[in-house]
Amino acid sequence: MSKYIERFRTSERVLHWIVTGSFFTLLISGLGLYSRLFNGYFAMFGGGQNAILIHKLVGLLFFFSSLYMFLNHKKDVSSFDDADWQWIKKYGGYLTRYGLHFDIGKYNPGQKLFAVFIAAATVVLGVTGLFIWSPVSFPRWIVQLSLLLHSLMFVGSIVFVIVHVYLATIGNPGTIEAMLYGDVRKIWAKKHHPKWYKEVAGE
Ligand code: HEM
Repeated sequence: MSKYIERFRTSERVLHWIVTGSFFTLLISGLGLYSRLFNGYFAMFGGGQNAILIHKLVGLLFFFSSLYMFLNHKKDVSSFDDADWQWIKKYGGYLTRYGLHFDIGKYNPGQKLFAVFIAAATVVLGVTGLFIWSPVSFPRWIVQLSLLLHSLMFVGSIVFVIVHVYLATIGNPGTIEAMLYGDVRKIWAKKHHPKWYKEVAGE
């Protein structure tokens, strides 16, 4: 009997890596626009004009792929049950050395919060990005407010993504296999997402 269980289909993983690739491309091409300190990054795109063009085009890719990813697992991130409350009350067990057990479904509350935040950030970054794209077409205050919100959401997203990458790799060994290979060890699933495991494996 296999010791693995499927967590993500190939299409879901490809979508996640498209979102990830576009996110980091936007980060690097946008840093030079954010502050002069990072103007050196423009060289990676063959100059400032190119970086701006790439930022706009990849922005469209990120907007649609990220929202599509959210719609794909909207059901899993919008449900909330008693085990989720227990998880929150005990800080997910991260602040104790003893392995606590929570009957968590496909995603824990931290993951749900992350997914909802990224979806909201995608909408805000996309809409404000549109106003910044063609600043002369809109009233000055709308463009200025958009610049502020765009920067704030950008900083917030970076913080969330750093935490996400840490927890998906070093923080919880075995998790990255889900996005690399599509399946995870059953022992990992029973430990981190027992309710989801029982539903999928029928055990
Ligand atoms: C190198 C960077 C990244 C790595 C290594 C990574 C890794 C992972 C892994 C392993 C999962 C599956 C977690 C599980 O099965 O429980 C996951 C899920 C997810 N990832 Fe990423 N990811 C990265 C970047 C990103 C970025 C940039 C975004 C969005 C902007 C993102 C959004 C999500 C979302 C929404 C989920 C589903 C909910 C969740 O698990 O929190 N990821 N990621």
